[in-house]
Amino acid sequence: MTTRREFLTTTAHAAIAAPLLPLVERAAPHPMRILILGGTAFLGPHIVAYALGRGHSVTTFTRGRTEPTVHRGLFRHVEPLVGDRSEGLDALAGRSWDVVIDNSGQRVEWATQAAEALRDRVESYVYTSSTGVYYPYLGDSISEDTELVMEVPVGADGEASREYSYGVMKARSEAEVRRIFGEDRAIIVRPTYIMGPGDRTHRFTYWPVRLERGGEVMVPGKADDPVQYIDVRDVAEWMVRLAETRTAGTFNTAGPAAPMTMHRFVHAAQGAFSAPTTFVPIDDYAFLAEHGVGYRIPWIPPVGNNYGSARADISRALANGLTFRPLAESVRDTFEWWDSGAVPADQQARLTGPESVMGREAEIIAAWRRR
Ligand SMILES: NC(=O)c1ccc[n+]([C@@H]2O[C@H](COP(=O)([O-])OP(=O)(O)OC[C@H]3O[C@@H](n4cnc5c(N)ncnc54)[C@H](OP(=O)(O)O)[C@@H]3O)[C@@H](O)[C@H]2O)c1
Repeated sequence: MTTRREFLTTTAHAAIAAPLLPLVERAAPHPMRILILGGTAFLGPHIVAYALGRGHSVTTFTRGRTEPTVHRGLFRHVEPLVGDRSEGLDALAGRSWDVVIDNSGQRVEWATQAAEALRDRVESYVYTSSTGVYYPYLGDSISEDTELVMEVPVGADGEASREYSYGVMKARSEAEVRRIFGEDRAIIVRPTYIMGPGDRTHRFTYWPVRLERGGEVMVPGKADDPVQYIDVRDVAEWMVRLAETRTAGTFNTAGPAAPMTMHRFVHAAQGAFSAPTTFVPIDDYAFLAEHGVGYRIPWIPPVGNNYGSARADISRALANGLTFRPLAESVRDTFEWWDSGAVPADQQARLTGPESVMGREAEIIAAWRRR
């Protein structure tokens, strides 16, 4: 039996020790064995970092081509399995895990094959889908129960064809995971635009890079145009927590918590930096398109098939524990990553070079003033 004196001594030691043991303090109650299909590009390394910090073990399955640009040092604690999903999953043979997180889904048959191979060897299947399943985005508040397009319409071409193909691929892949694992073991996350350190698309990164410089900053869109986005770490950490609690279901995964407009977004993002800045709103979609500013993620002109692209209903995710970092933190961390040497010079040049929107911004503003 613990005496009162022993109890006080123990709790006093615990109080002193706690700040020195952040990893133990954050550890999940039940360590899991996690298999990530993928794991080394953008979302994956953040899942790895959070999962290891929670005391889980991580195995990745990749072709061994992509190198992480964040958390590189942590990969010595990860078991790497090598294989190409278009050739099979031999490297997974005879193994079992508590959860699989499928980030590398690019074809419906890959989802079918992985779910069938792992059905009896893994408890839960987390599938990384996308709000792209809702294309064309036509609603004011698009919930998870919205009926999805499951075939690319005949005659779709150009951008619409690409959007339909991606959405249909994700929608059908989700359906395969639910069919094979069952609704009670399938965790489907549907992220909107993911941003943050390690983002290889360099779409949202435009804003951290541009706002750090200050000066006259073009802001595309009308004052009320809605935007949605989410920090990669918020997605990664929530996925791991959903897996820990085995919270089955399908979840829109978008932020911020309250509706956001493009104008309020740039003001909040600018708070990450101190350079004096003047915003120049340009609210004529046709003028913007003529000058090659069709979209600037998170801004997309909310018209036609994209009307609802930033109108995903996130109430289910909020009720199930999705949380958000402050925007200024995401913006600052993304800039620091961009500026750290992790991004090759040719990729940097594509975002900032003379032919880019950033490189032509002053001209576009001058043309806007002359019109
Ligand atoms: N970025 C966004 O805004 C956004 C928004 C919504 C949804 N999503 C979804 O988020 C998911 C996460 O993407 P991520 O790139 O960040 O994930 P990740 O887990 O960090 O990386 C993707 C991995 O897939 C592996 N891979 C690619 N082709 C493969 C193949 N044929 N066989 C085996 N492995 C293969 C890559 O490694 P190797 O190259 O070495 O094989 C890499 O490790 C994707 O499914 C995407 O559709 C992204």
